[in-house]
Amino acid sequence: MKSGDKLVVTAALPYANGPLHIGFLLEAIQADIYARSLRLSQKDVLYICASDMHGTPIEINAKKAGMEPEKFVDKYWKEHQEDAASFLISFDNFHKTHSKENKELSEHFFAELKKKKYIYIKNMDVIYCPKCQRSLPDRYVRGTCPLCGIADQYGDVCEGCGSVLKGTDLLNPKCSLCGTTPHVKSSPHYFFKLSAFAGKLKKWINSKSADLQPEVKNWLKEWLDKGLEDWCISRDAPYFGFEIPNSKKECGEVKYFYVWLDAPIGYISSTKNYCDTKSKNKNMKDKTNNKSCRWEEYWKKGQVTHFIGKDISYFHFLFWPAILMAMDIPLPKLTVHGFITVNGQKMSKSRGTFFTAKDFHKLYGAEALRFYYASHLQRRVVDVDLNFDEFAAVINNVLVGKLGNFCYRSLTFAEKNYAELPAAAENKALTKKVVSLSEKIKKNYLAQDYHAAIKNILTIADMGNAYFQKTEPWKNKDDPGTKTAVSWCVNLARNLAILINPVLPEFSKKVFHALDEKNRTFTDLHFRWKGKVEKVPLLVNKVEIVRKETFPLRLTVGKILEVKDHPNADSLYLLKVDLGQLGKKQVVAGLKKHFRKEDLTGRKAVFVANMKPAKLRGEMSEAMVLAADDGARVGLLEVEKMNPGEEVHFEGTENSHQEITFDEFIKINMAVQAGHVFYSGKKLISPLEEVRVHGVNDGAKVR
Ligand code: 2FM
Ligand code: ZN
Repeated sequence: MKSGDKLVVTAALPYANGPLHIGFLLEAIQADIYARSLRLSQKDVLYICASDMHGTPIEINAKKAGMEPEKFVDKYWKEHQEDAASFLISFDNFHKTHSKENKELSEHFFAELKKKKYIYIKNMDVIYCPKCQRSLPDRYVRGTCPLCGIADQYGDVCEGCGSVLKGTDLLNPKCSLCGTTPHVKSSPHYFFKLSAFAGKLKKWINSKSADLQPEVKNWLKEWLDKGLEDWCISRDAPYFGFEIPNSKKECGEVKYFYVWLDAPIGYISSTKNYCDTKSKNKNMKDKTNNKSCRWEEYWKKGQVTHFIGKDISYFHFLFWPAILMAMDIPLPKLTVHGFITVNGQKMSKSRGTFFTAKDFHKLYGAEALRFYYASHLQRRVVDVDLNFDEFAAVINNVLVGKLGNFCYRSLTFAEKNYAELPAAAENKALTKKVVSLSEKIKKNYLAQDYHAAIKNILTIADMGNAYFQKTEPWKNKDDPGTKTAVSWCVNLARNLAILINPVLPEFSKKVFHALDEKNRTFTDLHFRWKGKVEKVPLLVNKVEIVRKETFPLRLTVGKILEVKDHPNADSLYLLKVDLGQLGKKQVVAGLKKHFRKEDLTGRKAVFVANMKPAKLRGEMSEAMVLAADDGARVGLLEVEKMNPGEEVHFEGTENSHQEITFDEFIKINMAVQAGHVFYSGKKLISPLEEVRVHGVNDGAKVR
């Protein structure tokens, strides 16, 4: 980074396809702390992000939600910005990939790459579902893994043996949308000549300027040694994306840019949108100010830093740099982080360890999460565990107990006792230590070692607390020596507020406010402040971990695959139910009087997955379907967005996975109110939606 450079920092563009969660926040906060540190170092930096709006899952989910895809993605575009703002993420711009800027730039990139002969058309085998009349992405085909023989695997990766697959590899493949057996069809597609960049990429990864993390360098070496295949950058209709100009003429049918082509270009188009808007506003306000803001100044002459998760490394270290090379745009720097785990486990909707940004904010607020994440983050590809015991300890004992305590007690003491504080005591030795630690902290931030930054900040806070304690200012308040000592403490609190600002912007603002200062940067670190301290509000709050109550049933979404008559009972059906990772189960269900077979087949509903298996009239029942019954009509508990195997919960509870008997089950009271299911006043919900029951009256019992 040269001084005067224009810098761009990005977080990976979240799909506009569901609520933001604390996994995205890990990255957004990591990048935000970096962007804020650069601003405090007085760099010209833009923190850029956008919604990633294209692709098959969005197209399908919009349809499921009964919305136009444009409306569907716009809803999340708005929601994501609110969520990010609530966690104090300081994006300079949050644009969209479904935008005019991105369309123009994607078309421009495509045309240039074509002109340079990096794009060609070739026939490719795609999987086609004749019933849905669409090509299926690998993720939408399910079948048996050819390598380990485990059934019912997604076409992109086998969860049994971990092998990376292609949809065409699967044995006995089925369309995951409708269950039909798809066939392979050959269709012309556009390819980007990634292979032509192997040499240049090799050189890049070994260069000092790339500054790759060691783990990443190893992956890249492996990938490059294996050899690079050219990359298919088009997709068939139906698709939500940009049509490829001339594709109808060149391929005989319309093709769309693959979402992963136009998504990273979205980083640039969001920058462009920022610059264009800014230039326009400037010109309107002040015609004489013709200082331009152009994306090229950032991307061609400045330095871009992308923050990404390890799962999207291939796209960001191979495809994207190759495209940038072909476009003569300098290459970015990249920081890869690991995944977030919750209490040591993968975040999962079915385990109840999935937190949306909204849920988490409601429970613990923004700065607790920012501080916890920061204290765990270094520029390393390791997973970060959100362990709630540790979270409570870090926030209550460290953030509140050390940093918060020192700043609050110093400022409050000054405010209560002195109308005006004189210049600070010299405290040469201590001040020297603080200055040297502050230098380290600035470097820690710019090296993205926030763990070290926090550690050094806490060392300063400890020094402050010890000094305050030793000075005992409450003993002779009016002594001139006491006043200058308290002033030194206030100055130290002020410096701490500057140093912690990238992590805790609100905390810092409250301190500045009490000292009648604003927008301080790292150049304002000194001990020369004097004057009046205003009343300070609480700087940070303790957190109390909300432990969830245990609900005795494992409420799991299942998809009814097949319905047969029970051989020995007139009112019973035998259902074959897909319970996701729990497998396919036979369920005996008393639904025959209320539903026709065809009304049940293919439907998703809530099942009890921890019932002790029992024989009912000679047939095994391995789970139980829940139904609401008002005496006249019966309704299933329905979900839309959840997948088989995922769990739903009553608000504030966690499902028990322990086996339960029918006698225990029958004692649990669940009932319907206004189409929703309640258990002692708590509503049945999932991270994505509320569970619904149709066609029964209020008070219907759920069994
Ligand atoms: O993996 C994802 O969530 C993608 N939406 C990230 C895109 S980053 C960039 F390439 F746009
Ligand atoms: Zn289908």
